[in-house]
Amino acid sequence: MLAPTPTITNKYSISDKDLKSRGFLLRRTISNLNLDHLNFVFMAVGFPKCDLKKIKLVLENTNSILWVEHKKTQKPVAFAIATEDNVFNAIIWDVVVYPSYQGIGLGKDVMEIIVQELLEKGIVNIALYLEPRVLSFYRPLGFVVDPDGIQGMVYSKKQKKK
Ligand SMILES: CC(C)(COP(=O)(O)OP(=O)(O)OC[C@H]1O[C@@H](n2cnc3c(N)ncnc32)[C@H](O)[C@@H]1OP(=O)(O)O)[C@@H](O)C(=O)NCCC(=O)NCCS
Repeated sequence: MLAPTPTITNKYSISDKDLKSRGFLLRRTISNLNLDHLNFVFMAVGFPKCDLKKIKLVLENTNSILWVEHKKTQKPVAFAIATEDNVFNAIIWDVVVYPSYQGIGLGKDVMEIIVQELLEKGIVNIALYLEPRVLSFYRPLGFVVDPDGIQGMVYSKKQKKK
């Protein structure tokens, strides 16, 4: 688990207007979000296929949703969410960019915006889980292995078969 350094206070480098001029729209709600297309983005980056009803429930219960729509096709091409307690803590999940749109700054844009908006709400304890191969994506965005040595753990006790 990584946590951001408290020094991220700059306004993000991209605005809705900038994105629009590049052919993208920044979206913060699930209206207009085609969940089939979102699932397709997840699967394209190797995430397992998910039940659409469950994705819908997750998104309905998530405060911070950020996705980038490709204006021309109206399809989602970048996505991230954060679950939060609205006071101290947030965890960012599911940061994905559709493969043919990777490498043009959308992942960075989405991360910068979601972090900035959490900080603006006063939430300073922002964490995420990641695969080691993307450490160098998150580090320049201000995320570090917790400086106090705090580690994340996941519950992994096997469920008994019924
Ligand atoms: C990781 C991911 C979100 C990055 O999105 P992206 O839009 O391609 O990244 P950007 O174009 O915004 O790149 C921003 C910077 O991160 C770097 N970067 C991008 N992907 C990287 C990766 N996989 N590993 C290390 N650095 C990476 C870029 O080189 C760029 O550096 P620069 O600012 O010095 O030029 C995207 O590749 C992705 O969806 N991967 C598959 C899903 C995944 O692994 N998600 C993370 C789950 S923890």
